[in-house]
Amino acid sequence: MKVLVIGSGGREHAIVDALTRSPQVEKIYCAPGNAGIARQAECVAIRGTEVERLRDFAAAEGIGLTVVGPEAALAAGVVDAFEVAGLRIFGPTKAAARIESSKEFAKELMTRYGIPTADFKAFTEYDAAREYVLSRPFPAVLKYDGLAAGKGVVIAQTPEEADAALRDMLLDDKFGRGKVVVEDYLEGPEFSFMCFVSGRRVWPMALAQDHKRAYDGDRGPNTGGMGAYSPLPFITSDDEKYALEHILQPVADAMVAEGCPFRGVLYGGLMKTAQGIRVIEFNARFGDPETEVVLPRLRSDIVDIFCAVAEGREATLEWHDTATLGIVLASKGYPGTYEKGHEIKGLDALDGTVYHMGTELAGDRVLTAGGRVLFVVGQGATLAEARAKALADVARIDCDDLFHRSDIGHWALEKFTMHNS
Ligand code: AMP
Ligand code: GLY
Repeated sequence: MKVLVIGSGGREHAIVDALTRSPQVEKIYCAPGNAGIARQAECVAIRGTEVERLRDFAAAEGIGLTVVGPEAALAAGVVDAFEVAGLRIFGPTKAAARIESSKEFAKELMTRYGIPTADFKAFTEYDAAREYVLSRPFPAVLKYDGLAAGKGVVIAQTPEEADAALRDMLLDDKFGRGKVVVEDYLEGPEFSFMCFVSGRRVWPMALAQDHKRAYDGDRGPNTGGMGAYSPLPFITSDDEKYALEHILQPVADAMVAEGCPFRGVLYGGLMKTAQGIRVIEFNARFGDPETEVVLPRLRSDIVDIFCAVAEGREATLEWHDTATLGIVLASKGYPGTYEKGHEIKGLDALDGTVYHMGTELAGDRVLTAGGRVLFVVGQGATLAEARAKALADVARIDCDDLFHRSDIGHWALEKFTMHNS
């Protein structure tokens, strides 16, 4: 089978890597891909939002399966266009992807179906939003309603911070005119529960935890994610069972009841609070960088799963016991402004796997080409071993414009150990 992967980041590199392990795959294309993906797939210069060009390419090349990585391609309707053309594709339709693209849709669905999440109110008017926020306890959680690459959320500690954020979101059109969801502040460790979903069928993946803040000790601005690991020692099998039975399965059922059945990866961004497990957000796709630590642990043939989801058939998922931990190397300045075009050396001298998140080729040189640039993966019998291996490989990479966090996995390796000793 010929397979097309849509996207250009570390998530798509991990998907391509998993596809190379399937005996059913004859050839992999990636649109548009990056310098690392180019070693394992043929890169095609089409962006994820160029829906008609992607569809025409898949039809012309006889692609048997297309896998969508980024939310922007889903929101552009790539799945709908492929389905109309009778092409097999893995991912939710535009209507189903609203669980991610509209915070209000997601929050209202959760309210209607009794899914545990923070109480909320949605606003389009600055004055009403400001009045509500000032009447509530701080910190206040303000979420811009629309795709904002994980950066549309402000946790305001003071009325002044809340006011500035509401002005940005509702008066100054910084993000484009939209809505703001104001919700109660929750506390506890966060984790990512990704499931393959096909209508009412839900197959849970191994759990992972992302690290959203830019710097060590969970300090600094929110990013798209600076590192991840799997499994999670602080989430018990009872927690996982609760999340599956009270969150992921009911949401899959609700999407069917709402007339927009979900097919693809439903990603629950969950928090283990003192009151129980609560939903922070849903995504309609594989998480990035969670995918880069979860898929290396998948033992089953991923093509069987993608096809079972697309066609509504049964499949089984098996996992390796190994611990996997990965560290993002990001361009200095990220998530603010940063430079591109810095050369990266040492990539051939690594012990483990590296997924490319934002790179490009210039002749045979690999250059930085994004905010998040590389994802260095360590695997071992324990998370501590996996982290040591990842850090050793990070030290082998030579580039003058990258930074990384050294404490990925701290919830499992330091805090959790402390709480239990
Ligand atoms: P989101 O884009 O909705 O995942 O939010 C980004 C980050 O903001 C989350 O990963 C949390 O760390 C934080 N966050 C979002 N909602 C809440 C909430 N209700 N209470 C506390 N923190 C939150
Ligand atoms: N790692 C968070 C996300 O993919 O949205």
